Amino acid sequence: MLAPPRFTVGVRVTMKVLLVGGGGREHALAWALAASPLLTGLWCAPGNAGIADVAECVPIASEDIPALVAFAKEKAVDLVVVGPEAPLTLGLADACAAAGLRCFGPSAAAARLEGSKTFTREVTTAAGVPGAEWARFSDAGAARAYLREKGAPIVVKADGLAAGKGVVVAETVEEAEAAIAGIMEDRVHGEAGATILLEECLVGQEVSFFALCDGTTALPMAAAQDHKRVGDGDTGPNTGGMGAYSPPPAFTAAIEAEVMGRIVRPSLEEMARRGTPFRGVLFVGLMLTATGPRLIEFNVRFGDPECQVLMLRLQSDLLAALLAACDGELDHFSLRWSNEAALVVVMAANGYPGPYAKHTPIVGLEAASQVPGAQIFHAGTARDENGGLVSAGGRVLGVAGIGHTLREAHDAAYAAVDAVDWPGGFCRRDIGWRAL
Ligand code: AMP
Ligand code: GLY
Repeated sequence: MLAPPRFTVGVRVTMKVLLVGGGGREHALAWALAASPLLTGLWCAPGNAGIADVAECVPIASEDIPALVAFAKEKAVDLVVVGPEAPLTLGLADACAAAGLRCFGPSAAAARLEGSKTFTREVTTAAGVPGAEWARFSDAGAARAYLREKGAPIVVKADGLAAGKGVVVAETVEEAEAAIAGIMEDRVHGEAGATILLEECLVGQEVSFFALCDGTTALPMAAAQDHKRVGDGDTGPNTGGMGAYSPPPAFTAAIEAEVMGRIVRPSLEEMARRGTPFRGVLFVGLMLTATGPRLIEFNVRFGDPECQVLMLRLQSDLLAALLAACDGELDHFSLRWSNEAALVVVMAANGYPGPYAKHTPIVGLEAASQVPGAQIFHAGTARDENGGLVSAGGRVLGVAGIGHTLREAHDAAYAAVDAVDWPGGFCRRDIGWRAL
């Protein structure tokens, strides 16, 4: 197990924090927040068995806005930190503001950058951001006519939130036609499919980049590369993410500067101009194309599992950074990052992303956490009646490693994976292959 970094502060301040969420991303955030000398109390709703080691978990669902606000008021917390997007699109940040609570995460109006793909393309087109040629349709006939004009490959997207499943990268016109019919006519994603986008298919390496935003100032964080397919060699269905590493060698300092200058800052300005400034962490989904970085999508939160590798590399006080973002003070702030590489392997329940069993026993985490350079983040875990660790979700553990090189980080992570005894789970064996 890694000792979290320690920080010293000149002024004595006390900070009580409510963290919302219960996955691997939130365990990483809790671990980093717990290292802050500012922190005097940490609750997590609902948390998981690993988060319980660093925070007091409270059984409030992450989408129960009134109960979260009431709890935060009762404990007089100084900051609410929101992990997942759902509570943000439901207005948790707005409800906190109305109750006089500081909240790290955008308003519902600004969270539309994740909640609506057409909204994002409208904002970023107005801001002159390099993206993909796109068109929106609420009529399937008009969508088909556009498809015949453009041909394949083409990307078909449901406009609204579709649990990460509303995107079809169609290699043929027939595939695209089937996607249009499924999303618009059969409503396989419900009302999220009332409107669709047809987008130019971007080609290149995909990278996730994160920027901390206070409404007017954006501070670059770091980049990571996710592995979305369930199987080795990027095969099989899409998942929430089976592993990640940071930094991705393809994401150079020059590319970062270009992304900040041409994508992040213009988008932030456009959001402010519209009266919906973006405060929180902007997740910039990028395609590194032959003609430079282009925007695939924004999310309004940290990635999972990207957050796990970012937190392992962050050398500044996370709590101080989130406070500066909330208080509009990022222009006086900077973040330090380790030059080391971090890599996380997601261990998921057998069957994921399809149906899977829960409550299967997991042992060996003590041994796994003794592996030099290894760090274990819990996602879907819980305790059984005897206190034993059991699975409680699809993605269950994030087994991470840090090292001087990506190879070292990889080896530490997989040595720890091999120490975990969980017959009910599996993982990809090739996380980081692009860079190794
Ligand atoms: P999203 O739900 O927007 O994250 O899209 C899911 C995945 O679809 C992305 O991670 C990309 O791999 C792919 N994708 C989305 N839009 C495009 C595009 N315009 N060109 C190529 N791939 C895309
Ligand atoms: N790992 C991708 C995501 O968090 O959306």
